[in-house]
Amino acid sequence: MASGYIRIFDTTLRDGEQTPGVSLTPEEKIEIAIQLDKLGVDVIEAGFPSASQGEQKAVKEIAKSGLRAHVCALTRALKSDIDAALMCDVKYIHTFISTSEIQMKYALNMTPEQVIETTISSVQYIKDHGVICEFSPMDATRTEVDFLKRVCKAAEEAGADYINIPDTVGIMTPKSMEKLIRDLKEVLKVPLSVHCHDDFGLAVANSLAGVEGGATQVHVTVNGLGERAGNAALEEVVLGLHLLQNRMTGVNTKLIYETSKVISRLTGVPIQPNKAIVGENAFAHESGIHTRGVVVKPLTFEPFGPELVGRRRKLIAGKHAGRYGVKAELEEAGFHPTEDQLKEIVARVKDLGDKGKTVTDADLFAIARAVVGGGLEEKIVELSDLAVVTGIHVIPTASVKLIIDGKEYVASETGVGPVDAAIKAIQKITGSLVNVRLTEYRLEALTGGSDAVAEVIIKVEDKDGNIVSARGAREDIVMASVEAMINGINKILQRRIRRT
Ligand code: KIV
Ligand code: ZN
Repeated sequence: MASGYIRIFDTTLRDGEQTPGVSLTPEEKIEIAIQLDKLGVDVIEAGFPSASQGEQKAVKEIAKSGLRAHVCALTRALKSDIDAALMCDVKYIHTFISTSEIQMKYALNMTPEQVIETTISSVQYIKDHGVICEFSPMDATRTEVDFLKRVCKAAEEAGADYINIPDTVGIMTPKSMEKLIRDLKEVLKVPLSVHCHDDFGLAVANSLAGVEGGATQVHVTVNGLGERAGNAALEEVVLGLHLLQNRMTGVNTKLIYETSKVISRLTGVPIQPNKAIVGENAFAHESGIHTRGVVVKPLTFEPFGPELVGRRRKLIAGKHAGRYGVKAELEEAGFHPTEDQLKEIVARVKDLGDKGKTVTDADLFAIARAVVGGGLEEKIVELSDLAVVTGIHVIPTASVKLIIDGKEYVASETGVGPVDAAIKAIQKITGSLVNVRLTEYRLEALTGGSDAVAEVIIKVEDKDGNIVSARGAREDIVMASVEAMINGINKILQRRIRRT
């Protein structure tokens, strides 16, 4: 496959800012420009100076901030627009004019000959000021090809340094894009660029195809922001160039995720979870087959490692979870469950998944704390059954059945609420074995919602002053409390056994 450098022309601050609902302050634009420069793009299209005073201020500030990348301003092929850009002290101007019949007639109200004349005079005016000029025949992909070639040739002869081919309404396919660029290359000598919109979800594929056809520059936006369905996403284009097309760019891929987050935060546009490269799920594995595979060898179920784009792999606990994935995730968090404990944790995770719940890391760790902390291998007291009655006109009552040394014990108690009643019922059964007092009780709902995993953290003390803390984690608060209490009692009993 071919190799060679492809320039990354970033238009997050211009086309990206045209995303419906996005409006950035000059300060925010400067912050983004600095981040893009750090990322390593070649050109930063900082804005459209004739659009507003704020835009002029931002472009000017970015132009003088000493960035390594070229700072570019967009203009219509209009003297007043070009003057506004020159006032910002940019050394790179991107100028455009419509060339498709529909836009020349209804948007521009110009004849084809007037478009050619305006192209020439605008490019010359920019070049007369000693500034790099990139020219775009807007709606190029719906422009009659011979006319497109004429306009581009006129721009080249007037001194344009780059010619960019915009697929303004995103109607190209990879095949047609590659062919168009090849055809244009036959008549043009200047470096060609592509600017693809995502109306059919093909912006990235079309950009890569444009490169196959001979383009050496691609216009992109971070997170694929932009007019309507957006532009080609920087992160996808860059990874595609590097890994699928064996091309080089100046982008430091390790900063891609961080950059995506900065842009999402400042624009207020969230990233869809299943978005390639930067979406939350892009490196998350849930199914047992996949998690086992990636734990053993990541490339089994990943095209490349998440570290390449500054991310980490995530193994998700859910109903498809397998022992390998859960174990790996727990070990990374410092838990080292025994095989039996792991079995219990996985069973609880799957049970939650079957009930339609997403098991977050916090849920998983709470379950692990309850199971591992409960000392499952040495359980002396075990819960066999629990029933509670509560309501406005009934006294909260709990009946608990425990198994101690293989024998069943049942007790009922009333309390101020079902938790209190259940704890008292447990104390009633275990009182002769170990007399414990609840000294602290804390309840945390981990994932929000009434079906959240509840984690109960308690402290119990026996009559000799031994204090232990214990946890329970269940969807049901009463169950979580009972589990915590039984774990606490078991801990005290185990401590006594160890001492004897
Ligand atoms: O999509 C487009 O045609 C543009 C031009 C200004 C290049 O953004
Ligand atoms: Zn565009």
